[in-house]
Amino acid sequence: MEGTPFTGVGLGLRRPHLEAVARDGARGVPFWEICPENVLGEGGRHARCTRAILERDAALTHGLAISVGGFDPWDAAYLRDLGAFLTRTGTPWHSEHLCFTSVDGTCLHDLLPLPFTKDAARHTIGRVKELQARLPVPLVLENITYYAPLGAGEWDEAQFLTEVLEGADAGWLLDINNVYVNGLNFGFDPREWLARMPLHRVVQMHVAGHGRFGDLVIDTHGSPVIPEVAELMAWTLRRLGRRVPVLLERDNNLPELEELLTERASLQAVYDAAFTEEPAFHA
Ligand SMILES: [Fe+2]
Repeated sequence: MEGTPFTGVGLGLRRPHLEAVARDGARGVPFWEICPENVLGEGGRHARCTRAILERDAALTHGLAISVGGFDPWDAAYLRDLGAFLTRTGTPWHSEHLCFTSVDGTCLHDLLPLPFTKDAARHTIGRVKELQARLPVPLVLENITYYAPLGAGEWDEAQFLTEVLEGADAGWLLDINNVYVNGLNFGFDPREWLARMPLHRVVQMHVAGHGRFGDLVIDTHGSPVIPEVAELMAWTLRRLGRRVPVLLERDNNLPELEELLTERASLQAVYDAAFTEEPAFHA
């Protein structure tokens, strides 16, 4: 992504910060990530601020509700509006989660895991290809956190994800924190897990904070990124050898913009160091 704004560490654009970002400029943030679901159909002050930011700054788009692996029919009107928004934004791709989010037309407001089976992979690959044909930019898939497998799988998560990415010929939004959290909950080493994966498909990464609740670790997006996740980000960047864009996600316990800008800057320093320090190995 050299020569484009989509490199380094960007920040998720959140509603309470819209006015300050529209007024004060990007302040060193190379790009924003924006959820179309939070913008489409909105009017008023927030919509005006969003429009002003998107006209001025670079942005990637990230969806929450398409239900990529589900069975519900596509909402043609929504996909048309989404497509127009993506074109207007100038995003080079649109990311969505590899999961299902609705059943029988009811939005579940959660990212639920697909069964790790050949049938589910075949079904999901078909759905991804349909979306690829309907959207004006490539669809990129994100690995999620999950807290129990959905039925007995024929594969593990790593193989399921690989089969879908390869079968659909899709780019990968690698959420580093999700790998770390799943590693804690399911007892695997994130670096060994990543070493098995098709890292050449990574076009973007996410980092975020998580929380511990008894024995369970949950992807809360409610606290700063911990040093172990920042180190895993740097390890992966070195392994990739490419300056893919990394996005800092924060949705809960949202601090003042100033605090997020400071966290972003410290992650940017880790990001830059990953390419200037002598690499421990080559991808
Ligand atoms: Fe994420």
